[in-house]
Amino acid sequence: MSHGPSATGGAALKTGGHGHHEKHVPVFVGETEKRLQELLTRYPTKQAALLPALWMLQEARGWVSEEGMAEVATVLGLTPAYVKGVVTFYTMYHQHPVGKHFIQVCTTSPCHVCGAEDVVKAFLEQTGCGELGVTSADGKYTVIEVECLGACGFATPVMVNSDFLESITPATVADVLKRYG
Ligand code: FES
Repeated sequence: MSHGPSATGGAALKTGGHGHHEKHVPVFVGETEKRLQELLTRYPTKQAALLPALWMLQEARGWVSEEGMAEVATVLGLTPAYVKGVVTFYTMYHQHPVGKHFIQVCTTSPCHVCGAEDVVKAFLEQTGCGELGVTSADGKYTVIEVECLGACGFATPVMVNSDFLESITPATVADVLKRYG
């Protein structure tokens, strides 16, 4: 696996979250450290394991903080600036805390004309998020708009975490949310 930016960067976020600072508790200790060491045996260099190491960090914490990036940089022998460059390139890494279920709705033109904005509105209302990029008070949901998800013939496509859902309408939003309680 390459550790540099590539065309797999995915959809660009249209909206950001908010700043958040908590004391960083190291992630790569105990079991997680063991898993990392096992992972490293499968890569030619420590640095090549950057993407999966960041993924482990995000799995453990739900997002990738500056302090988390610094920890990854230390364990892999990289500079924090390099790690940050990679994190900011890939939209799969959350640079702010997000809800348990991260909902991405395509609102690019072809989906827009098919009513994507109404889908976004339904998600914002029914999750209680109210606004894009804001996590619901119960910590369950964050909704964002993204650029083309590559399923323009199935408006409106929505990603919930790593699940890809097609042909979502305002009428089916409630069903989707039931599956991701
Ligand atoms: S424009 Fe929405 S998936 Fe392509």
